[in-house]
Amino acid sequence: MTGRPVIVDTDPGQDDAVAILLALASPELEVLGITAVAGNVPLDLTSRNAMVTCELAGRPEVKVFAGCDRPMQRDLFTAEYVHGATGLDGADLPDPRMPLQEAHAVDFLAETLAGAQPGSITLCTLGPLTNIGTLLERHPGAAAGIREIVMMGGGFFEGGNVTPAAEFNIYVDPEAADIVFGSGLPLTMIPLDATHQALILPDHLSRLRRRGAVGEAVAGWLEFYERWDVDKYGMEGGPLHDPCVIAYLLQPGLFTGKDCNVRIETVSPLTRGMTVVDWWGVTRAPANCTVIRRVMAGEFFDLLIERIGRL
Ligand code: BDR
Ligand code: CA
Repeated sequence: MTGRPVIVDTDPGQDDAVAILLALASPELEVLGITAVAGNVPLDLTSRNAMVTCELAGRPEVKVFAGCDRPMQRDLFTAEYVHGATGLDGADLPDPRMPLQEAHAVDFLAETLAGAQPGSITLCTLGPLTNIGTLLERHPGAAAGIREIVMMGGGFFEGGNVTPAAEFNIYVDPEAADIVFGSGLPLTMIPLDATHQALILPDHLSRLRRRGAVGEAVAGWLEFYERWDVDKYGMEGGPLHDPCVIAYLLQPGLFTGKDCNVRIETVSPLTRGMTVVDWWGVTRAPANCTVIRRVMAGEFFDLLIERIGRL
């Protein structure tokens, strides 16, 4: 039995890297490729970090593509202040030996989707939506191959983490997000409202450390990465955002939300990148997205730790 075909679009980042590990550890999913985008750190580092992660998983044959090196209409805003200078600070891992694929990520996406059964491939997006916005703008026909897009991004009742209004992935490239939310494709958004419930606690780190070399590296990453949110927001632990996307595909019953209309603010400097979620249906505008609001955090970490232990 082969797994559900997915492409992971990502800007690693420690939490992205853990999401990639979770996907590669899960037989329910077939990772057709990993497409890197500029976000947490510049593109050369996100591409490198995707390859470091594949090699950590013992999967150097996974195809990694470099994509867009800056947002569609804006300068790049990065988050070394969270992820460290490399984007993967916290574990000492070797430079990757596997090759970066020659094709541009957007060309890989276009060709793969054009050759796929209609509605067959799931895109898991863990970073700014630049690669996907560019794909839909340049290759509108490629949309036919997409089954759904499940993204980490946005925040509504919880607010933002870059500005009071905006979450990082949408803030970095709001024009790309606007294209995606206007595409009519089936969308699921996992915003800060849900991921701020998935807090990394000391017990999770010690359980990971008992799971061998991969668990040890993951614990090192997460210990480094969570200090930012713990210090800034006074949280009990750092929120583990991006693996929620993969966990949603594996066990959707761990998540609850509802179908809503969502629009992206692209004009106002004050609220740039805000995900305007019509949770109460006040506009009566048609729903274009399933918006997740809750995650069963204990079960989510049980799943994650068990899967990391398989690597
Ligand atoms: C998102 O921004 C990045 O820092 C994380 O990798 C995650 O995708 C959270 O706002
Ligand atoms: Ca990310």
